[in-house]
Amino acid sequence: MKGNPRLDAAQVDHRDNFAARLLAWFDQHGRHDLPWQHPATPYRVWVSEIMLQQTQVSVVIPYFERFIARFPDVRALAVAELDEVLALWAGLGYYARARNLHRAARLIVERHGGEFPHAFDDVAALPGIGRSTAGAILSLGLGQRHPILDGNCKRVLARVHSVPGWPGQAAFERRLWACAEQHTPAQRCGDFNQAMMDLGATVCTRARPACQRCPLSALCSAYQRGEVECYPQPRPQRRLPVRRVRMLLLQADGKVLLLRRPPIGIWGGLWSLPECGMEEDWRAQVARYGLAIKAVERLPELRHTFSHFYLHIEPLRVEVEADRAVMDAGEAVWHNGPLHGRGVAAPVARLLASLDDS
Ligand code: ADE
Repeated sequence: MKGNPRLDAAQVDHRDNFAARLLAWFDQHGRHDLPWQHPATPYRVWVSEIMLQQTQVSVVIPYFERFIARFPDVRALAVAELDEVLALWAGLGYYARARNLHRAARLIVERHGGEFPHAFDDVAALPGIGRSTAGAILSLGLGQRHPILDGNCKRVLARVHSVPGWPGQAAFERRLWACAEQHTPAQRCGDFNQAMMDLGATVCTRARPACQRCPLSALCSAYQRGEVECYPQPRPQRRLPVRRVRMLLLQADGKVLLLRRPPIGIWGGLWSLPECGMEEDWRAQVARYGLAIKAVERLPELRHTFSHFYLHIEPLRVEVEADRAVMDAGEAVWHNGPLHGRGVAAPVARLLASLDDS
Protein backbone atom coordinates (compact mmCIF):
# COMPACT_ATOMS: atom_id res chain seq x y z
CA MET A 1 0.00 0.00 0.00
CA LYS A 2 1.38 3.44 -0.88
CA GLY A 3 1.64 6.38 1.56
CA ASN A 4 -0.28 6.78 4.79
CA PRO A 5 -3.79 5.71 3.88
CA ARG A 6 -5.78 7.12 6.81
CA LEU A 7 -4.27 10.55 6.52
CA ASP A 8 -4.45 10.65 2.73
CA ALA A 9 -8.03 9.39 2.50
CA ALA A 10 -9.29 12.33 4.53
CA GLN A 11 -7.36 14.89 2.49
CA VAL A 12 -7.96 13.60 -0.95
CA ASP A 13 -11.02 15.23 -2.49
CA HIS A 14 -11.98 18.87 -2.37
CA ARG A 15 -15.16 18.88 -4.47
CA ASP A 16 -17.19 16.07 -2.99
CA ASN A 17 -16.27 13.30 -0.61
CA PHE A 18 -16.75 10.47 -3.09
CA ALA A 19 -13.01 9.69 -3.30
CA ALA A 20 -12.39 10.14 0.42
CA ARG A 21 -15.24 7.77 1.31
CA LEU A 22 -14.10 5.22 -1.25
CA LEU A 23 -10.44 5.32 -0.16
CA ALA A 24 -11.34 4.92 3.50
CA TRP A 25 -13.41 1.86 2.52
CA PHE A 26 -10.57 0.56 0.33
CA ASP A 27 -8.06 0.74 3.19
CA GLN A 28 -10.23 -1.64 5.20
CA HIS A 29 -12.03 -3.78 2.64
CA GLY A 30 -10.23 -3.47 -0.71
CA ARG A 31 -8.01 -6.11 -2.32
CA HIS A 32 -4.40 -5.57 -1.37
CA ASP A 33 -2.91 -9.00 -2.00
CA LEU A 34 -3.39 -9.60 -5.70
CA PRO A 35 -0.19 -11.00 -7.24
CA TRP A 36 0.20 -8.10 -9.69
CA GLN A 37 0.18 -5.62 -6.78
CA HIS A 38 3.52 -6.89 -5.44
CA PRO A 39 5.35 -5.29 -7.07
CA ALA A 40 2.90 -3.27 -9.17
CA THR A 41 5.20 -2.44 -12.08
CA PRO A 42 3.64 -1.16 -15.31
CA TYR A 43 4.62 -4.41 -17.08
CA ARG A 44 3.00 -6.66 -14.47
CA VAL A 45 -0.09 -4.46 -14.22
CA TRP A 46 -0.36 -4.46 -18.01
CA VAL A 47 -0.27 -8.27 -18.23
CA SER A 48 -2.82 -8.56 -15.42
CA GLU A 49 -5.19 -5.98 -16.91
CA ILE A 50 -5.16 -7.73 -20.28
CA MET A 51 -5.86 -11.09 -18.64
CA LEU A 52 -8.61 -9.52 -16.48
CA GLN A 53 -10.48 -8.21 -19.53
CA GLN A 54 -13.41 -10.67 -19.77
CA THR A 55 -11.95 -13.00 -17.11
CA GLN A 56 -12.43 -13.24 -13.34
CA VAL A 57 -9.66 -12.59 -10.84
CA SER A 58 -9.71 -16.14 -9.43
CA VAL A 59 -9.26 -17.61 -12.93
CA VAL A 60 -6.52 -15.14 -13.86
CA ILE A 61 -4.24 -15.60 -10.83
CA PRO A 62 -2.60 -18.94 -11.79
CA TYR A 63 -2.28 -17.85 -15.44
CA PHE A 64 -0.67 -14.61 -14.35
CA GLU A 65 1.83 -16.38 -12.14
CA ARG A 66 2.86 -18.86 -14.84
CA PHE A 67 3.08 -16.09 -17.43
CA ILE A 68 5.23 -13.82 -15.28
CA ALA A 69 7.51 -16.68 -14.23
CA ARG A 70 8.18 -17.43 -17.90
CA PHE A 71 8.19 -13.80 -19.16
CA PRO A 72 9.37 -11.64 -16.25
CA ASP A 73 9.78 -8.48 -18.34
CA VAL A 74 8.94 -6.87 -21.68
CA ARG A 75 12.10 -8.14 -23.36
CA ALA A 76 11.53 -11.74 -22.36
CA LEU A 77 8.04 -11.53 -23.88
CA ALA A 78 9.26 -9.74 -27.01
CA VAL A 79 11.86 -12.39 -27.92
CA ALA A 80 9.50 -15.33 -27.27
CA GLU A 81 7.79 -17.22 -30.07
CA LEU A 82 4.09 -16.41 -30.38
CA ASP A 83 3.37 -20.13 -30.09
CA GLU A 84 4.73 -20.25 -26.57
CA VAL A 85 2.77 -17.16 -25.54
CA LEU A 86 -0.41 -18.72 -26.91
CA ALA A 87 0.34 -21.97 -25.09
CA LEU A 88 0.52 -20.12 -21.76
CA TRP A 89 -2.76 -18.40 -22.67
CA ALA A 90 -4.58 -21.58 -23.66
CA GLY A 91 -7.83 -21.82 -21.66
CA LEU A 92 -8.17 -18.07 -20.99
CA GLY A 93 -9.88 -17.53 -24.36
CA TYR A 94 -10.01 -14.35 -26.47
CA TYR A 95 -6.61 -15.13 -27.96
CA ALA A 96 -6.38 -11.79 -29.74
CA ARG A 97 -5.39 -10.51 -26.29
CA ALA A 98 -2.30 -12.72 -26.25
CA ARG A 99 -1.37 -11.87 -29.84
CA ASN A 100 -1.70 -8.15 -29.07
CA LEU A 101 0.35 -8.51 -25.89
CA HIS A 102 3.14 -10.16 -27.84
CA ARG A 103 2.99 -7.63 -30.67
CA ALA A 104 2.95 -4.75 -28.17
CA ALA A 105 6.02 -6.15 -26.35
CA ARG A 106 7.93 -6.09 -29.65
CA LEU A 107 6.76 -2.52 -30.31
CA ILE A 108 7.89 -1.47 -26.83
CA VAL A 109 11.36 -2.81 -27.60
CA GLU A 110 11.37 -1.00 -30.97
CA ARG A 111 9.90 2.31 -29.85
CA HIS A 112 10.90 2.56 -26.18
CA GLY A 113 14.05 0.47 -25.81
CA GLY A 114 12.19 -2.26 -23.94
CA GLU A 115 11.07 0.07 -21.12
CA PHE A 116 7.30 0.18 -20.65
CA PRO A 117 6.34 3.74 -21.71
CA HIS A 118 5.19 6.26 -19.08
CA ALA A 119 3.32 8.68 -21.39
CA PHE A 120 -0.42 8.06 -21.72
CA ASP A 121 -0.50 8.52 -25.51
CA ASP A 122 2.40 6.08 -25.99
CA VAL A 123 0.64 3.48 -23.85
CA ALA A 124 -2.74 3.97 -25.54
CA ALA A 125 -1.05 3.63 -28.97
CA LEU A 126 -0.10 0.00 -28.22
CA PRO A 127 -2.27 -2.79 -29.64
CA GLY A 128 -4.90 -4.13 -27.24
CA ILE A 129 -4.74 -1.12 -24.92
CA GLY A 130 -7.72 1.24 -24.87
CA ARG A 131 -8.31 4.35 -22.83
CA SER A 132 -9.37 2.54 -19.67
CA THR A 133 -6.58 -0.04 -19.72
CA ALA A 134 -3.98 2.68 -20.34
CA GLY A 135 -5.38 4.60 -17.37
CA ALA A 136 -5.33 1.48 -15.18
CA ILE A 137 -1.71 0.64 -16.06
CA LEU A 138 -0.41 4.14 -15.43
CA SER A 139 -2.40 4.72 -12.25
CA LEU A 140 -1.95 1.30 -10.64
CA GLY A 141 1.62 0.92 -11.88
CA LEU A 142 2.97 4.47 -11.54
CA GLY A 143 0.42 6.43 -9.49
CA GLN A 144 -0.39 8.80 -12.37
CA ARG A 145 -3.79 10.43 -12.35
CA HIS A 146 -6.03 8.94 -15.05
CA PRO A 147 -9.66 7.83 -14.78
CA ILE A 148 -10.63 4.30 -15.75
CA LEU A 149 -13.96 2.89 -16.84
CA ASP A 150 -14.20 -0.88 -16.82
CA GLY A 151 -17.43 -2.83 -16.38
CA ASN A 152 -17.38 -2.57 -12.59
CA CYS A 153 -16.75 1.18 -12.62
CA LYS A 154 -19.56 1.66 -15.11
CA ARG A 155 -22.03 -0.05 -12.80
CA VAL A 156 -20.93 1.98 -9.75
CA LEU A 157 -21.06 5.31 -11.58
CA ALA A 158 -24.30 4.57 -13.42
CA ARG A 159 -25.94 3.95 -10.02
CA VAL A 160 -24.39 6.85 -8.12
CA HIS A 161 -25.50 9.25 -10.86
CA SER A 162 -28.61 7.43 -12.16
CA VAL A 163 -27.23 7.42 -15.69
CA PRO A 164 -29.65 5.74 -18.10
CA GLY A 165 -28.45 3.47 -20.90
CA TRP A 166 -26.19 0.48 -21.17
CA PRO A 167 -22.48 -0.27 -21.69
CA GLY A 168 -21.47 0.22 -25.29
CA GLN A 169 -24.07 2.94 -25.91
CA ALA A 170 -22.21 6.10 -26.90
CA ALA A 171 -24.11 8.59 -24.71
CA PHE A 172 -23.85 6.30 -21.68
CA GLU A 173 -20.11 5.89 -22.13
CA ARG A 174 -19.60 9.64 -22.64
CA ARG A 175 -21.48 10.57 -19.48
CA LEU A 176 -19.70 7.95 -17.39
CA TRP A 177 -16.26 9.05 -18.57
CA ALA A 178 -17.17 12.56 -17.42
CA CYS A 179 -18.24 11.18 -14.01
CA ALA A 180 -15.04 9.13 -13.69
CA GLU A 181 -12.96 12.18 -14.61
CA GLN A 182 -14.78 14.30 -12.04
CA HIS A 183 -14.28 11.88 -9.13
CA THR A 184 -10.72 10.73 -9.80
CA PRO A 185 -8.47 12.31 -7.16
CA ALA A 186 -5.02 13.76 -7.75
CA GLN A 187 -3.53 11.73 -4.92
CA ARG A 188 -3.77 7.97 -4.48
CA CYS A 189 -5.24 7.59 -7.95
CA GLY A 190 -4.05 3.98 -8.23
CA ASP A 191 -5.75 3.05 -4.97
CA PHE A 192 -8.87 4.93 -6.04
CA ASN A 193 -9.10 3.04 -9.33
CA GLN A 194 -8.46 -0.30 -7.66
CA ALA A 195 -11.12 0.64 -5.09
CA MET A 196 -13.68 1.34 -7.84
CA MET A 197 -13.06 -2.09 -9.33
CA ASP A 198 -13.13 -3.78 -5.94
CA LEU A 199 -16.33 -2.03 -4.88
CA GLY A 200 -17.99 -3.05 -8.14
CA ALA A 201 -16.81 -6.64 -7.75
CA THR A 202 -17.69 -7.15 -4.08
CA VAL A 203 -20.37 -4.62 -2.98
CA CYS A 204 -21.97 -2.86 -5.96
CA THR A 205 -22.62 -6.17 -7.70
CA ARG A 206 -24.95 -6.57 -10.64
CA ALA A 207 -27.47 -8.67 -8.71
CA ARG A 208 -28.35 -8.10 -5.04
CA PRO A 209 -25.82 -5.34 -4.30
CA ALA A 210 -24.84 -4.91 -0.63
CA CYS A 211 -25.88 -1.25 -0.32
CA GLN A 212 -25.86 -1.49 3.49
CA ARG A 213 -22.10 -1.96 3.34
CA CYS A 214 -21.47 0.61 0.61
CA PRO A 215 -19.38 3.69 1.44
CA LEU A 216 -21.13 5.61 -1.35
CA SER A 217 -24.78 4.94 -0.46
CA ALA A 218 -25.25 8.44 0.99
CA LEU A 219 -24.19 9.88 -2.40
CA CYS A 220 -25.92 7.29 -4.55
CA SER A 221 -28.85 8.65 -6.53
CA ALA A 222 -30.18 5.21 -7.51
CA TYR A 223 -30.00 4.06 -3.87
CA GLN A 224 -31.86 7.13 -2.64
CA ARG A 225 -34.62 6.40 -5.17
CA GLY A 226 -34.71 2.66 -4.43
CA GLU A 227 -33.73 1.89 -8.03
CA VAL A 228 -30.25 0.43 -7.68
CA GLU A 229 -30.97 -2.72 -9.66
CA CYS A 230 -32.33 -0.66 -12.57
CA TYR A 231 -28.79 0.52 -13.44
CA PRO A 232 -27.15 -0.05 -15.79
CA GLN A 233 -30.04 -0.97 -18.03
CA PRO A 234 -29.62 -4.28 -19.83
CA ARG A 235 -28.47 -4.09 -23.40
CA PRO A 236 -31.40 -4.93 -25.70
CA GLN A 237 -31.10 -8.66 -26.34
CA ARG A 238 -29.87 -10.07 -29.57
CA ARG A 239 -29.73 -13.82 -29.87
CA LEU A 240 -26.36 -15.21 -30.80
CA PRO A 241 -26.27 -17.18 -34.03
CA VAL A 242 -25.14 -20.81 -33.92
CA ARG A 243 -22.41 -22.03 -36.25
CA ARG A 244 -22.11 -25.80 -36.66
CA VAL A 245 -18.90 -27.58 -37.55
CA ARG A 246 -17.71 -31.12 -37.66
CA MET A 247 -14.33 -31.69 -36.02
CA LEU A 248 -12.30 -34.70 -37.06
CA LEU A 249 -10.14 -36.52 -34.56
CA LEU A 250 -8.07 -38.44 -37.09
CA GLN A 251 -6.13 -41.10 -35.21
CA ALA A 252 -3.28 -43.27 -36.44
CA ASP A 253 -1.08 -45.33 -34.15
CA GLY A 254 -2.54 -43.52 -31.10
CA LYS A 255 -1.63 -40.10 -32.53
CA VAL A 256 -4.08 -37.35 -33.49
CA LEU A 257 -3.70 -35.04 -36.45
CA LEU A 258 -3.52 -31.34 -35.45
CA LEU A 259 -3.49 -28.46 -37.93
CA ARG A 260 -2.30 -24.97 -37.20
CA ARG A 261 -5.03 -22.37 -37.78
CA PRO A 262 -4.28 -19.33 -39.92
CA PRO A 263 -2.95 -16.34 -37.93
CA ILE A 264 -6.16 -14.32 -38.16
CA GLY A 265 -9.73 -15.26 -37.31
CA ILE A 266 -10.92 -17.36 -34.38
CA TRP A 267 -8.19 -19.24 -32.54
CA GLY A 268 -5.68 -17.59 -34.89
CA GLY A 269 -2.28 -19.32 -34.66
CA LEU A 270 -3.54 -22.06 -32.31
CA TRP A 271 -3.41 -25.75 -33.12
CA SER A 272 -6.78 -27.28 -33.80
CA LEU A 273 -8.48 -30.28 -35.36
CA PRO A 274 -9.38 -30.55 -39.03
CA GLU A 275 -12.93 -29.31 -39.42
CA CYS A 276 -15.57 -28.99 -42.09
CA GLY A 277 -19.06 -27.61 -42.52
CA MET A 278 -21.96 -29.95 -41.73
CA GLU A 279 -22.99 -30.13 -45.37
CA GLU A 280 -19.46 -30.86 -46.59
CA ASP A 281 -18.17 -34.34 -47.38
CA TRP A 282 -15.76 -35.06 -44.53
CA ARG A 283 -14.75 -38.40 -46.09
CA ALA A 284 -13.52 -36.57 -49.18
CA GLN A 285 -11.56 -34.21 -46.93
CA VAL A 286 -9.87 -37.15 -45.19
CA ALA A 287 -9.08 -38.63 -48.60
CA ARG A 288 -7.52 -35.33 -49.67
CA TYR A 289 -5.13 -35.60 -46.73
CA GLY A 290 -4.03 -38.95 -48.17
CA LEU A 291 -5.51 -41.00 -45.32
CA ALA A 292 -7.53 -44.21 -45.57
CA ILE A 293 -10.53 -44.55 -43.21
CA LYS A 294 -10.60 -47.70 -41.07
CA ALA A 295 -13.32 -46.98 -38.44
CA VAL A 296 -15.62 -44.09 -37.41
CA GLU A 297 -17.17 -43.18 -34.05
CA ARG A 298 -19.39 -40.21 -33.14
CA LEU A 299 -18.35 -38.44 -29.92
CA PRO A 300 -20.62 -36.28 -27.70
CA GLU A 301 -21.36 -32.83 -29.10
CA LEU A 302 -19.84 -29.67 -27.59
CA ARG A 303 -20.89 -26.06 -27.54
CA HIS A 304 -18.40 -23.22 -27.21
CA THR A 305 -19.51 -19.62 -26.69
CA PHE A 306 -17.78 -16.78 -28.48
CA SER A 307 -18.75 -13.14 -28.02
CA HIS A 308 -20.59 -13.13 -31.37
CA PHE A 309 -21.80 -16.69 -31.89
CA TYR A 310 -22.05 -20.18 -30.50
CA LEU A 311 -19.87 -22.81 -32.05
CA HIS A 312 -21.67 -26.15 -32.03
CA ILE A 313 -19.12 -28.91 -32.51
CA GLU A 314 -19.95 -32.41 -33.71
CA PRO A 315 -16.80 -34.47 -33.21
CA LEU A 316 -16.02 -37.64 -35.14
CA ARG A 317 -13.24 -39.98 -34.09
CA VAL A 318 -11.86 -41.55 -37.22
CA GLU A 319 -9.27 -44.33 -37.18
CA VAL A 320 -7.09 -43.90 -40.25
CA GLU A 321 -4.19 -45.51 -41.97
CA ALA A 322 -1.44 -42.96 -42.36
CA ASP A 323 0.59 -44.64 -45.05
CA ARG A 324 0.83 -41.55 -47.21
CA ALA A 325 2.05 -38.03 -46.40
CA VAL A 326 -0.55 -35.49 -45.29
CA MET A 327 -1.22 -33.25 -48.28
CA ASP A 328 -2.85 -29.79 -48.62
CA ALA A 329 -3.33 -29.46 -44.88
CA GLY A 330 -1.07 -26.50 -44.15
CA GLU A 331 1.03 -26.85 -41.01
CA ALA A 332 0.25 -30.27 -39.55
CA VAL A 333 1.53 -32.55 -36.79
CA TRP A 334 0.65 -35.99 -35.54
CA HIS A 335 0.21 -35.27 -31.85
CA ASN A 336 0.63 -37.66 -28.97
CA GLY A 337 0.76 -37.21 -25.19
CA PRO A 338 0.61 -34.01 -23.15
CA LEU A 339 0.19 -30.61 -24.80
CA HIS A 340 3.06 -28.81 -23.15
CA GLY A 341 4.13 -25.88 -25.26
CA ARG A 342 1.42 -26.38 -27.87
CA GLY A 343 -1.40 -23.82 -27.78
CA VAL A 344 -4.78 -25.38 -28.52
CA ALA A 345 -8.27 -23.92 -28.15
CA ALA A 346 -10.24 -24.93 -25.04
CA PRO A 347 -12.80 -27.25 -26.70
CA VAL A 348 -10.02 -28.94 -28.67
CA ALA A 349 -8.13 -29.56 -25.42
CA ARG A 350 -11.32 -31.05 -23.98
CA LEU A 351 -11.73 -33.35 -26.98
CA LEU A 352 -8.13 -34.50 -26.78
CA ALA A 353 -8.53 -35.15 -23.05
CA SER A 354 -11.67 -37.20 -23.75
CA LEU A 355 -9.59 -39.41 -26.05
CA ASP A 356 -7.06 -39.94 -23.30
CA ASP A 357 -9.90 -40.88 -20.91
CA SER A 358 -11.48 -43.41 -23.24
N1 ADE B 1 -10.47 -6.22 -13.28
C1 ADE B 1 -9.74 -5.48 -14.11
N2 ADE B 1 -8.67 -4.97 -13.48
C2 ADE B 1 -8.72 -5.40 -12.20
C3 ADE B 1 -7.91 -5.24 -11.07
N3 ADE B 1 -6.80 -4.50 -11.13
N4 ADE B 1 -8.28 -5.83 -9.94
C4 ADE B 1 -9.39 -6.57 -9.90
N5 ADE B 1 -10.20 -6.77 -10.92
C5 ADE B 1 -9.88 -6.20 -12.09
